[in-house]
Amino acid sequence: MNLLVTGGCGFIGSNFVRWQRQHHPEDRIVVLDALTYAGNLHNLDDLQADPGLYFVYGDVCNGPLVESVLRDHAIDAVVHFAAESHVDRSIWGPSVFVQTNIVGTANLLEASRTAKVERFLHISTDEVYGDLGPDDPPFSEETPLRPRSPYAASKAAADHLVLAYVHTYGFPALISRCSNNYGPYQFPEKLIPLMIISALQDQPLPVYGDGSHVRDWIYVLDHCAGLDLILRRGRPGQVYNLGGMCERRNIDIVHAILEILGKPASLIRFVADRPGHDRRYAMDIRRARTELGFEPCCPLEEGLRQTVRWFIDNQAWWQQIQTGEYRGWYQRNYGARLAVEGAVA
Ligand code: NAD
Ligand code: TYD
Repeated sequence: MNLLVTGGCGFIGSNFVRWQRQHHPEDRIVVLDALTYAGNLHNLDDLQADPGLYFVYGDVCNGPLVESVLRDHAIDAVVHFAAESHVDRSIWGPSVFVQTNIVGTANLLEASRTAKVERFLHISTDEVYGDLGPDDPPFSEETPLRPRSPYAASKAAADHLVLAYVHTYGFPALISRCSNNYGPYQFPEKLIPLMIISALQDQPLPVYGDGSHVRDWIYVLDHCAGLDLILRRGRPGQVYNLGGMCERRNIDIVHAILEILGKPASLIRFVADRPGHDRRYAMDIRRARTELGFEPCCPLEEGLRQTVRWFIDNQAWWQQIQTGEYRGWYQRNYGARLAVEGAVA
């Protein structure tokens, strides 16, 4: 199979590419990524010499580019991660979320339909369902979409477009909706990496509101395993919830990180709450379990320990992000050619 992975230089995308190369070395992967602030070619450094991996620098909103990548690489399946992904940024500036998450998905869908791509896996999120009260049952795939942040609304719009292609054109798309991921290569604007790095530097840990908001946490490689099941065994047209079956309050996550690092709770700072902050997410994953055999394997405590260890062992990775050094070098050296073929630079 020839796979196009959009957003393959981001957090989940790069973990997915690595997972695929390990588990399906017979497949070829083309990564299409615009290298926004969240995209980092260093996330694929260990795969530089891999002849089964190609990188194309480009924007999913660029119609002619997407069409040529699909055609020139004889793409059989698309796995679409590319997105703006941070809720706080969507509150500060929603336009780029509309552009990338909605227009970009529309563009990719149309090019993929025209190119007769055999499978299209759209990576969505639990946030499209809205939020839950403390005693509400978890979200199922039948829960109506009720997004509450610009990020969630843009992802929900994209989901609707994907399902419209399924119903109107019989397009073989699938949707995964997963809960909060954590693990190696996560950009340090999200809760877990931000807290780990701040604690490592003895900097304050900003907890929004009273820290009682609840998220369901999944180790990123469990998510990747679930995506592989959906990609290869899922029913076209279907939506699959994925999650870690692991609800925790934010404050408990922060305490767990401090404990692993042996740092004091006095580093915690309760700060102003996020506007419209969703209180709780939880996922009903019975469909993925019964149809596909999906099972999240990594317990949170173990996953957190591994993640903390990764950030301790990879200080150069996040220090380059802190200084901004990780940005721009690729564009400066290769960007003029727009689409660059070949193994990862
Ligand atoms: P991320 O922000 O770490 O990475 C996004 C990637 O997309 C980056 O490499 C970026 O350069 C690329 N990108 C952005 N705009 C682009 C464009 N216009 N054209 C091409 N590439 C572009 O995101 P992530 O956390 O890895 O999330 C990946 C996907 O998974 C997103 O669609 C997100 O909505 C979804 N998701 C994330 C989580 C989570 O907890 N992080 C949970 C569920 C679903
Ligand atoms: P985040 O990692 O941004 O993911 P999402 O908003 O998509 O769930 O945030 C996870 C939770 O942590 C969310 O309830 C907001 C909270 N949070 C903080 O308390 N402090 C922070 O600095 C950040 C980034 C998040």
